[in-house]
Formats: sequence, structure tokens, C-alpha cells
Amino acid sequence: MNTPRHSRPKGTLDFVPPVADELRHLEYVAARLSTRFGFREIVTPVFEHTDVFTKSSGDASDIVTKEMYSFKDRGERDLTLRPEGTPGVVRAVLENRLRIPVRLYYFGPYFRFGRPQKGRFREFRQYGVEAIGEASPYVDAEIVLLGDEFFRTLGISDCTTELNSIGCRACRPGYRKELVAFLYAHKDELCEDCRERMDRNPLRVFDCKNEGCREVVADAPKTAGHLCDDCADHYDGVKRALDRMKVSYGINDRLVRGLDYYNRTVFEYISSRLGAQDSLGGGGRYDYLVEDLGGPPTPSSGFALGIDRTMMAMPEKPPLPEGTQPPRESLAYVVWMGEEELKHAVELAAKLRAEGVATRVDFDAARPKRQFRSADAAGAACCVIVGPDELAKGVYSLKDLATGEQEEVPVNMIVPRVRALFR
Ligand code: HAM
Repeated sequence: MNTPRHSRPKGTLDFVPPVADELRHLEYVAARLSTRFGFREIVTPVFEHTDVFTKSSGDASDIVTKEMYSFKDRGERDLTLRPEGTPGVVRAVLENRLRIPVRLYYFGPYFRFGRPQKGRFREFRQYGVEAIGEASPYVDAEIVLLGDEFFRTLGISDCTTELNSIGCRACRPGYRKELVAFLYAHKDELCEDCRERMDRNPLRVFDCKNEGCREVVADAPKTAGHLCDDCADHYDGVKRALDRMKVSYGINDRLVRGLDYYNRTVFEYISSRLGAQDSLGGGGRYDYLVEDLGGPPTPSSGFALGIDRTMMAMPEKPPLPEGTQPPRESLAYVVWMGEEELKHAVELAAKLRAEGVATRVDFDAARPKRQFRSADAAGAACCVIVGPDELAKGVYSLKDLATGEQEEVPVNMIVPRVRALFR
């Protein structure tokens, strides 16, 4: 084949068969689990008005300042390809006046302009859940449990959960003051980005991957030591609930998450198989976001899991527990001998499809040998052969492509015989 003239944009992925099937499988597992926890699907636009993100993800967050695909459309509107799902979901809940509390899940593509590397893409996929209008620590724990079950269902055994609490609008200012004072004392040891973050959004310093900055923040004051009584109680409640639900987790008192809307609970799922981009997913509580986007005070909590990274962390052949496998149809090929038999082949294909059997006919190849080759290339399970002898006898020949065995099947028995072969 010639060298292709067009390549995909940097930081994007193609999902060709059968990898695309895997993607659908993950979506199926996500949908089943979410439904079991009372979440219902929501689908929102891939682009939103830019201020939906600047007013929520945080105008000092890396995502908003450096990573958004923002553009003006032909009507001079400021739009942005969604870098994450939460703000759009909250916007849709308010705009459609959904009754709160409401539990929603979603699955789709997201866009961030970062430097592409292993596990970090410019277009990637997320599975997310949002419990909007629920305040209890049990809700946070249930959401952590749901993500944990998702990864376990897919056979990802090396996933660990990290937990922290970052307080609320009552206790965070005091903490922030102390942190800024600490960072100023270590100003010279911080990278340029962090020196800038120090005033605008000091908690972001905890996210910096720079070695020098990491060493500094190792000794920085921790959020969990500065919680007000209500936040401390809530944090204890989350831990107790997780224990009761038998979810194992570790405390990471430097975990703050890269988005501005969080308060209290934050968590992340980490995999050792991923390298530097080791976060399989993350989430937390965002009790102010609904209000910040124009709604009533509404405590909320959720997560988003990176589907591309999940696929990278999955074992070669994931164990598929009973009932989680999507109904994947096997393929039958109808092979015809001549023009007369082709007419029967078309009718037979229609009949098989009407009975739910995935069926193809190679119309281009006049010679049966080439049709068999097409069937092989398409990964078909069997060929149903329509020849003059078969038609005269009122049968079809059914060839099992896995074993090479061939048998004659009465016309009225073909559907169950093909089905039996698939099983
Ligand atoms: P996030 O931590 O920004 O959170 O993203 C969640 C997950 O998406 C990450 O842990 C990672 O697996 C995946 N991800 C993020 N960026 C990329 C990328 N460039 N390439 C590949 N995968 C990526 C959120 O998005 C929040 N909306 C989560 C949330 C929902 N919080 C509350 N509700």
C-alpha cells in the first residue's frame, strides 16, 4: 500500500475493529453499573459556550488557561470543545429544569490541548457520573465504590484509590493564607509556573510535576489539617462509609485535583501500569458549582474515568463476568454460484437478518472461491452455500469456517442451524 497522504491530528486515536468493539464493551459495562446505582444517561453537546467552562472549571486552572479548544463560530459566538463533562451536565440540568436530586451518567469524547504523551491525548474519552443534589458522605463513598467496581469488572487489579478532603469556603481561606505564606518562604525553589500560581491559585502547586516543586510541597501545610468541624465530620463520614462498603483506599493529603470547583471530598484512581499519566480517573464533591452556574445551592458529587487509559491498563484478555458481555453477533456469509442463485442469496440474507443473524453477501466476486476468501477476511463464522444442486434438493450447504466441516441443511432449518453454530 502507498504511504497514506493524510494522518490523524496529533494526540488523537483511531479505534479500528476489533478495538472499537472493546470501546463499546466498556460503554456497556459503564451503562450497566451506573444503572444499578440509579444513574440515568445524559447526552450533552460536544461544544458549549466558553463561559460554561471558565465559570466552573476555574479561570486559573491549567485546563481553562492552557488546554481549551476555544473558537469563534461564524456567528461570532465564543465556543469551546468540552474539556470535561461536569459543567455541561450541570448546565443541562438547570436549562432543562430536571428535578433535583438527579443521578446522571455519560460517556463520550473530550478535548484538551496538552503535550501528547503516553496516556495523554488531545481527544480522549471519559465515562462520568454526577449525583446532583445529594450531600451525604455516603454518596461520595458510593461513587468511589462505583468506579472501583468498574475497574474490577474489567479485570484491572492494580488500581488503587487515593482520598483527601480539601475543605469548604469557610475553612479554605485560612488554609490558603497559611499555604501562600509557606510558598513565599520557598519561592526561589519553585518553577516559574508555580510562582505565578502562588497568588492566583496556590492549591495548583500540588499538581506540579516538577521535581523541585514536589520536594517543596512535601513539607507544605496539608488541607486535611485545616478542616472546619463540619468538613472534618464529613470527611470522617466518607471514610467510615467506604470501610462499611469494603472499599480499600489510601489517604493522599497532597491530592487537590486540577479543577477549581471541588470542595471537601476529592479522590483519584491510580494505576501502576500507566507511567507518568497514572490517573485512571478522579472526582469529588462540588457543592458550589450548581450555584455558580446560576442554580440554587445544590450539594453534588461525581467522577470521570479516562476510557483510553482504562483500555491501556486492562489485561490482554479481560475476564468478562456473566452478563457483562455485549451481545456480539457472529457473522454468516451467503455464498452464491451464479446469477440465478444470487437472487436466492439476496432473499436468504434478508431472511437471516430479519431473524437477527448478521449476514453478508459478496456481490462483487462472481467466483465462489473468492467469496469464501471474503468470508474469511471478514472473520465470518460460517458460509451458507446456495448452488443449483442445493436449490434442486431444497437444502443449503452450511460450512463451519472454524472446523471446515460442511453439511446439508433443509431450507426451513437454516436459521436455527446457523444460530447453533454461533453458540
Ligand atoms: P479529570 O481528572 O480532569 O476530571 O479527568 C478525569 C480522567 O480523565 C483522568 O483521570 C484521566 O483518566 C482522563 N483524562 C483527562 N485528561 C486526559 C487526556 N488529556 N488524555 C487522556 N485521558 C485524560 C474531570 O474531568 C472531572 N470532570 C471529573 C468529575 C466529574 N468530577 C466530578 N464529577
